[in-house]
Amino acid sequence: MDSQELKSNLVLILDFGSQYTHLITRRIRALNVFSLCINGTSSLKSITDLSPRVIILSGGPHSVHAPNAPCFAPGFIEYVESNKVHVLGICYGLQLIVQQLGGVVRVGDKQEYGRMEIEVEKVGRLFGNKKEGDRQSVWMSHGDEAVKLPVGFEVVAKSKQGAVAAVENVERRFYGLQYHPEVTHSPEGMDTLKYFLFDVCGVTAGWKMEDVLDEELKIIKDTVGSEDHVICALSGGVDSTVAATLVHKAIGDRLHCVFVDNGLLRWKERERVMETFERDLHLPITCIDATEQFLSKLKGVTEPEKKRKIIGSEFISIFDAFAHDLEQKLGKKPVYLVQGTLYPDVIESCPPPGSGRTHSHTIKSHHNVGGLPKDMKLKLIEPLKLLFKDEVRELGKIMGVPQAFLKRHPFPGPGLAVRVPGDVTLENRLDILRRADEIFIQAIREAGIYDSIWQAFAVFMPVLTVGVQGDQRTHRYAITLRAVTSQDGMTADWYYFDHKFLIELSTRICNEVPGVNRVLLDITSKPPSTIEWE
Ligand code: XMP
Repeated sequence: MDSQELKSNLVLILDFGSQYTHLITRRIRALNVFSLCINGTSSLKSITDLSPRVIILSGGPHSVHAPNAPCFAPGFIEYVESNKVHVLGICYGLQLIVQQLGGVVRVGDKQEYGRMEIEVEKVGRLFGNKKEGDRQSVWMSHGDEAVKLPVGFEVVAKSKQGAVAAVENVERRFYGLQYHPEVTHSPEGMDTLKYFLFDVCGVTAGWKMEDVLDEELKIIKDTVGSEDHVICALSGGVDSTVAATLVHKAIGDRLHCVFVDNGLLRWKERERVMETFERDLHLPITCIDATEQFLSKLKGVTEPEKKRKIIGSEFISIFDAFAHDLEQKLGKKPVYLVQGTLYPDVIESCPPPGSGRTHSHTIKSHHNVGGLPKDMKLKLIEPLKLLFKDEVRELGKIMGVPQAFLKRHPFPGPGLAVRVPGDVTLENRLDILRRADEIFIQAIREAGIYDSIWQAFAVFMPVLTVGVQGDQRTHRYAITLRAVTSQDGMTADWYYFDHKFLIELSTRICNEVPGVNRVLLDITSKPPSTIEWE
């Protein structure tokens, strides 16, 4: 499918703040249909510029009666009708359609939250070949309900409690579901969505990662042109690696990557990551060993945020020096910088009013190590900015990034500094931690559970504890093991290992890591804890 065809099959989501909005976008993309999500109150122009085939109005936490309840832009109804765009309202989206087209929405007698049964009232378009009286279980989450439909609308399903569950006006191409078809608690929801897109709206599937790859390569080539140079800081993480691989495919060795060993990496991390970059991906890369520079600046520093700041500013100064060296070598300044920004960051950077979501850029600002020197004035290339994490992995796979690399657990920018509370430079704390961490991670890999865990790592405990080892009383350090499951790192549960695994692991760590005589397991979820220790 060429890019014109792709665009003519676009499903646009207008986000009114539901926690499930991203999920709708992802589910539709999983059907090989391109889908984008923009703020529900975006201007009409931002909608018409995209010229979508279908528009889905998301759910949201508001009541349509609330002052400042978010609504689509003036002229929206006229636009969709004159351009024959199909519109599906989900939950708040349905209520908005009803209210804006002259129906009545009011606070329901009985509010409906959670799993509910709905029943088809009338055979219509929405439920395809379902018959009158057919039932299904769905996920509801609403207080208001539509009590009078606009002229020309019909109720096609009702909840067991008698509330409107699905409506349509086939002639005007407006449809609405009071429940959430996108969540797994609505087992038939995806079939309904699929039927709606392909059979009701006539969308053609054809969006695939290979097309994304071709399109991105073209965009990068057009943007950078045939002369300019581009730089990229590789962290060893999936996003920056996939972004750099993509740019390298587009412009070859006019891409210049740098990988900094700050002395806070895991066991043999530098060697392992460089091997992937050089041997598997052939990326033009400079590896800078800045261990001394970082550790000398961190000497005596115990305050966690200060540690982060120091690491950030050292990184900037190294990156700055790298760019200046490059300028000397090339005889011209590099013009662009590659960043691995993902779609959730783009969407979250302008959340709809009242959604309860804050700008993730702000939440994570302490997580973005460094940033860039202000006077460099590099233009950004963000080739992954329309993709979700799993799509980035798929793109990486198509480009030959090794699977094992794509599935790596996230690793924080300040590295082991946040896993050694206090001064990281004392004694051989980093070395002890690296050895224990390596044993832990290898054991997890051998047990075949690496991919079921979001993040696993060891933490150095800066306390001497008493032990008996070989009939001798010892005073040595303790190591804490932390492993969590999570969807996005915002909340997390601790991972439940079996006893035998833990017993063997604790014995191995005490026997094989000099300086350790005690192993602890962190059994706190997030919240109340965070994933990292500092
Ligand atoms: P917390 O510890 O806040 O971590 O629950 C959530 C996720 O963010 C990672 N993390 C960081 N990443 N710089 C980063 O690049 C940081 O300073 C930082 N602190 C935490 C953490 O590993 C987890 O994936």
